[in-house]
Amino acid sequence: MYDLIVIGAGPGGYVAAIRAAQLGLKVACVEGRGSLGGTCLNVGCIPSKALLTSSGKYAELKHLAAHGVAVEGASLDLGAMMARKDKVVGDLTKGIAFLFKKNGVDLIEGWATIPAAGTVQVGDETYETANILIATGSEPTPLPGVEIDEGDVLSSTGALALEEVPEHLVVIGAGVIGLELGQVWSRLGAKVTVVEYLDRILPGIDGDIAKLAQRALSKRGLKFQLGRAVQSVTKGDNGLTLTMERVGKGTEETLEADKVLVAIGRRPVLGGLGLDTLGVAVNGRGFIEVDETFRTSVPGIYAIGDCVPGPMLAHKAEEDGVACVEHLAGLNGHVDYGTVPGVVYTDPEVASVGQTEEALKDAGTDYITGKFTFMANSRARASGETDGAVKVLASPDGKLLGAHICGAHAGDLIAELVLAMTKGATITEVAATCHAHPSMAEAVKEACLDALGRALHA
Ligand code: NAI
Repeated sequence: MYDLIVIGAGPGGYVAAIRAAQLGLKVACVEGRGSLGGTCLNVGCIPSKALLTSSGKYAELKHLAAHGVAVEGASLDLGAMMARKDKVVGDLTKGIAFLFKKNGVDLIEGWATIPAAGTVQVGDETYETANILIATGSEPTPLPGVEIDEGDVLSSTGALALEEVPEHLVVIGAGVIGLELGQVWSRLGAKVTVVEYLDRILPGIDGDIAKLAQRALSKRGLKFQLGRAVQSVTKGDNGLTLTMERVGKGTEETLEADKVLVAIGRRPVLGGLGLDTLGVAVNGRGFIEVDETFRTSVPGIYAIGDCVPGPMLAHKAEEDGVACVEHLAGLNGHVDYGTVPGVVYTDPEVASVGQTEEALKDAGTDYITGKFTFMANSRARASGETDGAVKVLASPDGKLLGAHICGAHAGDLIAELVLAMTKGATITEVAATCHAHPSMAEAVKEACLDALGRALHA
């Protein structure tokens, strides 16, 4: 008899299992994939970051001449790049198995179903447990009319494992996955066209910052076709043909490609668990409904991560998992969803926390804003990484409401603003904090000073 069985060993599930074991619960974690770490470690965050780093190094060679470094004869060994990525993934997934052993978490290999609250079935084995935590994550949302075969028409999984650089890759969706993987293949030599339904890229990111990102990504080679709804992809002798409708105009266009990546969002994975029979309530978009302590509508069954509403991010799933099991152990776990950062690991990076200017306007909230461009930051000038800016949004009395960065190292720079928001710091307090010179972080200080009407270098 277990205290807790976690279904799914992604970042949400495996972290929840470890934390529950630390708190003295008898825990098992069920995983059917054959390796631990879920989408993030196996076919998501980690392999994409490995390829972004490797392809970034290759792309950087073209710009070294400006630094007085001549490179001759550089060439791409795609097989070696992919093998390195696979090794990074393999080492990390094995690391989780080690953490399970160290913390006394039992691993049950196979796909789980829940015949009733208090029971988990895996193959022929039935396990009794006081509590069940569903952490089954998400999968790519399919696009009607476009069949993913992972050969020519790819999801992110296929786009992380191509054996050759495609000539023309068309990416459907200018969201996080489309831009990150689009940039990988663009850097490795493919022509990459990103087709997007909306009239902007990166929905959900502050509009000003998304515009800066689009400009910078275009400069680095990505082509954008916005305001296009893809309706079908057909295979012919000479490759693939996309049919698209101009949104609002109704006119039809076609586009030829030799590979297509479908990246139009992700949806929860709940099939096969038996939730219908159990009566676990699911909302209209297919996410499990939970209360603030992650309880589903069925007592003893909890859910976290990508299969419940909220940002579909590994670090949010981890926070959910820890808070959920802390509640089970009688503690007061809490997640502040207003301060969950989001990072797009393109070059330049895009990072954000809190509210966008559009959201503040829509809600009729009073705000002040400050902005500082990296062009005016001395460290950015010295490194040749001047694209982008820091933007902060605050209440008229200085409370940080949101922060958005496009630029090199944005994913690291945002951490300071996440901490500031979490601790309720004002822009005056961030601006009064000593920032090292020369550093990119000075742009954060200057954006806060700008909101206060006293930027020093602008
Ligand atoms: P997304 O929701 O970020 O972007 C999907 C885009 O596709 C949207 O811009 C949407 O307007 C567009 N779209 C939808 N239907 C379309 C159509 N028929 N034709 C053209 N465009 C269409 O989804 P994405 O990039 O697939 O990512 C899925 C999830 O994975 C996101 O929630 C994201 O947060 C997460 N993720 C996070 C990463 C990170 O934190 N660095 C990396 C990769 C994924």
